[in-house]
Amino acid sequence: MKNLTADELRDMYLKFFESKGHAIIPGASVIPENDPTVLFTTAGMHPLVPYLMGAMEHPAGTRLTDVQKCVRTGDIDEVGDAAHLTFFEMLGNWSLNDYFKEEAISWSFEFLTTKLGFSPDQLSVTVFRGEGKEGEPGYIPADEEAAAIWRRLGIPDERIFRLPREDNWWGPAGTTGPCGPDTEMFIDTGKPKCCDACRPGCHCGKYIEIWNDVFMQYNKNAEGKFEPLGRHNVDTGMGVERTICMMSGAPTVYDTEIFAPIMAKIEELRSAGKGYTAKNDELHSAGKGAGAPELPSVPPEEELRAKRIVADHMRTATFILCDPKGGVKPGNVGANYVLRRLIRRAVRYARQLGIAEGFTVSLAEVICDKYSNVYPELRENLAQCRIDLEAEEKRFNATLDKGEAMYRKVAEQLKAHGQSQISGKTAFKLYDTFGFPFEMTVEMAARDGLSVDKDGFEEANRKHQELSRTTSAGSFKAGLQDNSEVVTRMHTATHLLHAALHKVLGPTANQKGSNITAERLRFDFTWPEKMTDGQIAEVEKLVNGWIADAIPVTKKMTTVEEAKKEGAMALFGSKYGDQVSLYTIGDVSKEICSGPHVSNTSELGSFKILKEQSSSAGVRRIKAVIGNM
Ligand code: ALA
Repeated sequence: MKNLTADELRDMYLKFFESKGHAIIPGASVIPENDPTVLFTTAGMHPLVPYLMGAMEHPAGTRLTDVQKCVRTGDIDEVGDAAHLTFFEMLGNWSLNDYFKEEAISWSFEFLTTKLGFSPDQLSVTVFRGEGKEGEPGYIPADEEAAAIWRRLGIPDERIFRLPREDNWWGPAGTTGPCGPDTEMFIDTGKPKCCDACRPGCHCGKYIEIWNDVFMQYNKNAEGKFEPLGRHNVDTGMGVERTICMMSGAPTVYDTEIFAPIMAKIEELRSAGKGYTAKNDELHSAGKGAGAPELPSVPPEEELRAKRIVADHMRTATFILCDPKGGVKPGNVGANYVLRRLIRRAVRYARQLGIAEGFTVSLAEVICDKYSNVYPELRENLAQCRIDLEAEEKRFNATLDKGEAMYRKVAEQLKAHGQSQISGKTAFKLYDTFGFPFEMTVEMAARDGLSVDKDGFEEANRKHQELSRTTSAGSFKAGLQDNSEVVTRMHTATHLLHAALHKVLGPTANQKGSNITAERLRFDFTWPEKMTDGQIAEVEKLVNGWIADAIPVTKKMTTVEEAKKEGAMALFGSKYGDQVSLYTIGDVSKEICSGPHVSNTSELGSFKILKEQSSSAGVRRIKAVIGNM
């Protein structure tokens, strides 16, 4: 086997299939075009679904090959081990109702043995073993045809494994679409078997999957049934990172040339920032000055895992933010949420490593340098990517700083009382009110010699979720969880907008009406004239500032009289019951309102005014959105 770089492998693959009559097509955006069934492009076949289905002819013909950027975050918690990645490149070749098993398998074999230099003795393969009974509905025969082709190519039967659907069936990429049995190719690393049952597909590391040829003869329909597609397509996928890893003999994907500059940068940032964490410098230097013990260092395995998570997540986030289709920004719903989660996890682990704020941009630059010869969009969109990363990193660091400060108070109090366990309720409060990730409470507690009541935390979380489901079900008949979450955030944004209008225009800019949908908020208020651009910008800036400040939103039950005494805003003239909910956002806003609201302003992401117009005489109307700037 040859030691190739990723650049060489891509080139070699595309040329090989070009020599077999395939047209080289450009890979698609990692953000799917017009497809609500998936958040990201998860496989090379995904952008080709309409052609695989036969809905239209591909302009480049019936034999295609490309390299596709893919994002899969289903296993995000596994990232940090030797092989899991949330972003990877997939090499693929396709037959759109053209060649089938014979050619696909023969070419895979030829490429593996003559181009990549694997010995046929190193190869093991799997084929679909079939299911159901002949003559009965749902029967799918075993793929003996694929097995026979492998035998003919010289793979002995003891290295052809017949496996069930969970191993040897691929697709569809979304909930519906083309799919079929596959044959997967594994390289035997020569390690001893972990047990008698050890075979390709076992995770012990003896067998590493290198390629998958899918024979797409079925369509999964909306009822979840597999119906014959009436076409014989081939869809194949070879992961670039994994292949390079295996061929270079590197122990993990992070030790390959692909990750080398990213890991080196992380190491450099870690050395430069050791003992210094974003905005936490007072804490650390105060600790040192007062002769307090140094923070215990992170154990080496945890440190390695943290570095890999930072590397993986930043690579994925950079590709998403620089994607030519664009439109995905850190936020709270759907793809935006996935992106936010990736960045925030990276920030969290970078902090654990003692890396200073600003690292997301430094890494994005390195990633851009490494890849822009193949993906020029990285260079083209780097400027905007930097802005988005910087804002999200800052925002989350602010939340974490507050959360850490709260955690320290809790820990000190416990210690002062001779206690050693953080209750589930307290951990939940740190999480829910201050946005402090539960895992961080656990990590910090472990370093302080404290335990955390995990069951109690889960119990509190469960109760809270039940409660908010009831609240949203009652208030918003639409019932869609995602929508109701957005609407809840819009409610809180409305309070911030109201408070900002008071600050910028004065106390006469009072609410006249409010209407919220999942798409936008609308707010009517008394004001005699058009707001100036400067005033609008000022309002936006105030609201975004409060969001960045990650201010807790609290609720208490009280009487209208009491609330007004406290200076609460209310819709004068409205009828309220004896007891009302009073929502307080730090010292920014106090309003009587039936809610629901988020528990921290940081959950709003961002705020933007779309329109300021007249509503009726003496009343202006603002339309605004959150999260997607
Ligand atoms: N679509 C197939 C896969 O992702 C090739 O494995």
